[in-house]
This record gives sequence, structure tokens and C-alpha cells, in this order.
Amino acid sequence: MNVSEIRKDFPVLSQTLYNKPLIYLDNAATTQKPIQVFEAVEEVYKKYNANIHRGIHYLSELCTTKHEDTRQYIADYINAASSNEIVFTRGTTESINLVANGFAETIINKGDEIIVTEMEHHSNFVPWQMLCKKKNATFVVLEIEEDGSISIEKLKCLITEKTKLIALTHVSNVLGTINPVKEVTKIAHQQEIPVLVDAAQSIQHMKVDVKDMDCDFMAFSGHKLYGPTGIGVLYAKEKWLEKFPPYQYGGEMIQNVSIEKTTFNKLPFKFEAGTPNYIGAIGMGAALKYIEKTGIDDIVKYEKQVYDYAVEKLSTIDNIQIYGTSKERISVISFNIEGLHPYDIGTLIDKNGVAVRTGNHCAEPLVHHYGINGTTRASFGLYNTKQEADMLVKSIIKASGILMNN
Ligand code: ALA
Repeated sequence: MNVSEIRKDFPVLSQTLYNKPLIYLDNAATTQKPIQVFEAVEEVYKKYNANIHRGIHYLSELCTTKHEDTRQYIADYINAASSNEIVFTRGTTESINLVANGFAETIINKGDEIIVTEMEHHSNFVPWQMLCKKKNATFVVLEIEEDGSISIEKLKCLITEKTKLIALTHVSNVLGTINPVKEVTKIAHQQEIPVLVDAAQSIQHMKVDVKDMDCDFMAFSGHKLYGPTGIGVLYAKEKWLEKFPPYQYGGEMIQNVSIEKTTFNKLPFKFEAGTPNYIGAIGMGAALKYIEKTGIDDIVKYEKQVYDYAVEKLSTIDNIQIYGTSKERISVISFNIEGLHPYDIGTLIDKNGVAVRTGNHCAEPLVHHYGINGTTRASFGLYNTKQEADMLVKSIIKASGILMNN
């Protein structure tokens, strides 16, 4: 993988901030976009923009074909059985809410149980918590281990005949822990419990194969995989999508409407009310093609080198605590420096051109597990380098010096 060539595809990276080169380490929040994504989006607007699935004219048919080709491409990319299993949404959050709505309407009853882990992002925590509240079901939370992993043995102890769903993240947005989702689905399916995987932090960093994982649902966002914002995917096995009622009502998702009755469109359109975000979908397809062209195996190998290097260098900083030490980790490093507030560290290193995120990272139960209110988080993408990791370390040391002396 030639990273200097890759960096040329991401114009935003070559700028300076405060007269310092930008070091963008907030990739878990959102990634930067390559020109190939801009070009794909620009091509739609310049050459064939038209509302899809509605027109018999040339542009509408062409735009519809490009949109549906993208759906098929994404289905193939994640190894779904069919493009009917790909529902376009606004992002991971909407994908999970769609499933929660389907569960609320068809599956969950009083006394049932839903299991999530303590390391979930709020978007894979609150929808289940609210659903349980609404249905008088029990919200069960699997505590994490001190190294930031989950224990399969403890998970097994939480499963009962009332368990109706296990929802967990593939990769933690705070710790970088990679969860053993394949093992989880195997155990869950022995008792016919469906599993939802939040792949928002994994699909851009590793190979994700829904048949191999055998998950029932998987959610991800375009903007975290080098694509546009406002677009994402819900992958769901067809048997679930058949069972669920529509999530929203309006155009596109209907078959026939009369005063007496409305019938719904076939899959996956039943879940795509309103004019679809075809521009976003095509842009997201271009981003996945970019990852494919770069080569996911090479990305994994390269990112691991940079990640291991960054962990090693950060560990040498005085009084640093890195959260999550599990062996299976990628991309994300969360830390605190004793006696210093993450917000102060983040603010000062920003003045060196280093962009990181600070706070609870929308995962309050997880940060509270460690008895803290937040961390500083550096998160890496395919364009980051060891030199940038060095600059991160230098900037933190400098910032700590300033803060300690004040
Ligand atoms: N979920 C995003 C993050 O972890 C916003 O930063």
C-alpha cells in the first residue's frame, strides 16, 4: 500500500492549520473523503440527476440503474444473499432504530429480554433500552472485562428462554476492541436468538462477511467508510424484513393506496419511504470501491503497523492510562493523563494541528465503567502514518507540560 499516493486522493489532508500540517486522528467520528467519492457524486449531479424509481424518462432510468447497481455492489461486498437484504438508511443509528421498531411491532412482549453489552455506542443501547421500557421487557447489559473485552462465558449465563435479541458492536468506538461476533451468533442461534451487529467501526478496517458472521442484522454508515454523510445501510436477513412492518410511511414504500387500504412495496423498498438518498448511496458505493481497489487485506496490515506503533509510543508518556488492552483491537486509542482533563489536552493539541475527539464518545455506560467521565481518543484511518503518531505523542507531551505547569 502506497500511503503517500493514497494521501493525494484526500485533498483535506494536505492543508495546514495554525501553520502546522493537519494530523487528522478523528476517524472514528467521521473519515475524510477521497476525490473518487467527489467525482462519483459530481457525475450524478452533472450527468444524470433525476428522482429514482419514479420516472420513465432516460435520466430517471439511468439514475435508478446506478442506484440499484450500488445496492447490488454493497450486497456483494458484504456477501449478503441478495440485494433485497440491503436497506438504505440515514446511517447506523437509523438502521438500528428500524430494527428496534420491527421488534417493537412484532417480536417483543412483556417479560422478554434483550441483551446488549456495556461497550455499546448510545445508538445501539438507547433504542433497546427504550423498547424494553415501552414493552415492559428486561434490558440486560453484559458487563465488560477490565481489558475491554467481553466474556463469552458471562454472555452465556445471561441468555435465557426469554432472550429475544443480542445486539453488540463489532468494534468498540472507544476501546477499539474487536468482539467475537461469529462466536456470539453461533451461541445465540443454538437458541434461535437473532443477533444485531453494529459494524460502524469495523467495515472500513476489516473484511466483513455477513454469511460468515451469520448475523441477522448489521448496520453501518457511509461517512465512517470514506463516503458521504446522511447515508447508511441496514443489512437484514430477508426473513426478518418480511416479518417487520414498514418503519415510515409515504411515497416509494407503497404498492397501492386507496381510501380504504394501503398495500406495501416489496423488499427492500417497503423500508425506504420518501425520495431515496441516491446521491449518498452512489457516493458510498464509490467509497467502498475505493477500499476494495486499495485492498482490504493491505489496509488491515498497514493499519495494524501504524496502530501498534502508536500504542507503543503513547504508552511511553508519563502518567498515561490507555483504556482497553485486549489483544484484538484496531484503529481507536482512548487515554487519559493523570490529573489532566481530556478537553484541555484535546484543545491544546488542536493548536498543533492534531484533531482528536474528547469526551464520552456517546458511550457513557462504558466510560463510567472505568470510573471516568471521558477520555481523549485518537482514531486512525488508512491514510494515517507513523510520523503522525509521533506528532500526536509530541503534542501530548507538550500539552501536558503546559497544563502541569499551570
Ligand atoms: N460515533 C462517532 C464517534 O464515536 C460519532 O465519534
